[in-house]
Amino acid sequence: MKPADHIILIGFMGAGKSSVARRLARFEGMSSIDMDKYIAREAGMSIPEIFDTEGEEGFRQRELAFLGSMLTRERTILSCGGGVIVREESRELLRQLGTVIYLKVDAAEAISRISQPSTRPLLSGATPPAELLAARVQYYEDVAQLTINTQGRTILQVTQAVQRALRSEGKL
Ligand code: S3P
Repeated sequence: MKPADHIILIGFMGAGKSSVARRLARFEGMSSIDMDKYIAREAGMSIPEIFDTEGEEGFRQRELAFLGSMLTRERTILSCGGGVIVREESRELLRQLGTVIYLKVDAAEAISRISQPSTRPLLSGATPPAELLAARVQYYEDVAQLTINTQGRTILQVTQAVQRALRSEGKL
């Protein structure tokens, strides 16, 4: 076992990471951490406010610092922000932190699932979501040990698929 043995969910905005993490934690009697919520609480600002005042770079730096802090924490289920894989140092930390699961979804379905687009600054940025996703897919795949297709599936179905995959890896 690695020193930190977290269960880590990554994937594009709207992939279902936060909901699946909460459900999985409930089913398994484990704790879960939502990275965006944690960072916002610690910063005393919402995610859009962090982007406004510190830029995307400032936010990525906060993500990196948060991942570093996870190295010494008790095992948990961690749902990450969709862009956590953008920086090489963050990808390296993710690999060290435990079992990384990529929740896969296409851009159209991801966007249709997001009820409050205004909370995601990059959805109103210059790059269309499909392009943003296309540029990231290689990183998601590169970091993840397991990939779960979420297309057309409910949170419950995805959670059960994640459970099955983790069980077969001896991680649950
Ligand atoms: C981002 C995704 C968001 C949040 C921030 C940036 C991204 O998280 O971290 O708005 O770069 O894709 P969710 O994936 O939870 O929406």
